[in-house]
Amino acid sequence: MHSTDTYQWPHKDLLDVTQLSREDAFHLLDLAASFQEINRRPVKKVPTLKGKTVVLFFVENSTRTRTSFDVAGKRLSADTYSLAKTGSSLNKGESLKDTGLTLQAMGPDVIVIRHPSSGAARFLAELLPCGVVNGGDGWHAHPTQALLDCFSLRAAWEGRFEGRTLLILGDIAHSRVARSNVHLLHMLGVKLRLCAPRTLLPAGVEHWPVEVCCDLARAVRDVDAVMCLRLQLERQQAGLLPDLAEYSRRFCLGARHLELALPGAKVLHPGPMNRGLEIADDVADAPASLVLDQVAAGVATRMAVLYLLATRRDGGRA
Ligand code: CP
Repeated sequence: MHSTDTYQWPHKDLLDVTQLSREDAFHLLDLAASFQEINRRPVKKVPTLKGKTVVLFFVENSTRTRTSFDVAGKRLSADTYSLAKTGSSLNKGESLKDTGLTLQAMGPDVIVIRHPSSGAARFLAELLPCGVVNGGDGWHAHPTQALLDCFSLRAAWEGRFEGRTLLILGDIAHSRVARSNVHLLHMLGVKLRLCAPRTLLPAGVEHWPVEVCCDLARAVRDVDAVMCLRLQLERQQAGLLPDLAEYSRRFCLGARHLELALPGAKVLHPGPMNRGLEIADDVADAPASLVLDQVAAGVATRMAVLYLLATRRDGGRA
């Protein structure tokens, strides 16, 4: 599916993939593909967002999301500014509301926020007139990660989502990446399978549009791709996972598992990877790995997101 010529992006903000229609998603992926072409040129810069301002407001650690939004903005000639928790007045007790209003007073077109609390991006979006992008909020959502994963899978699967099967493996309970990917990929026609220890499956998983299998050797059979998730040691409650060696033995994806998947099956990981815990070196560094393709896709996808939000003409809400 490709979006029509008369299509207009309707959203002020990008807070969650649940706000997107199929047409929105394909329009964004098509636009990202055109920006990917710019990223392959010797001179990777166009004047498209000259005069626009993007603020990167990261209250939680990030390498990929923050850097790729920064690169994306600069490739489109936007001015980008960063604010992290460390070194900001958040550390003096300033509230999210006052920080948001302060940033807005400097006239940004788009604010990208990452925050440990679910709902922080929506809070800013409802408070501020500029576009707000959720760069990951708590366990809730990571829409640009899901979009870049779709972009990578679309390329690997030669454009066809319907009839494909993706296994999502690992710490699903704490994963905003899993939540966003399940929703978006299900909407695009992908069959989803989850594999995790029972203590790392989310409450209410029986209402998700997925098949659940807690045995990795069975779960990986006949899948088109496996997405490994980081074991979020910083978000674990005591007792969920008493033994990391046991976890690795049962749930670390290795080359021997991938042999049970369909020929040519791909491996994804949103990063950062715990090598040897959820993904083995013989998979992470194999030709089947899309991990670095995902990083490159992140720049193109985030260029598309910044373009759509910064150039939206009317002032309506998502
Ligand atoms: N995938 C992801 O969000 O990575 P970072 O935490 O490095 O941004």
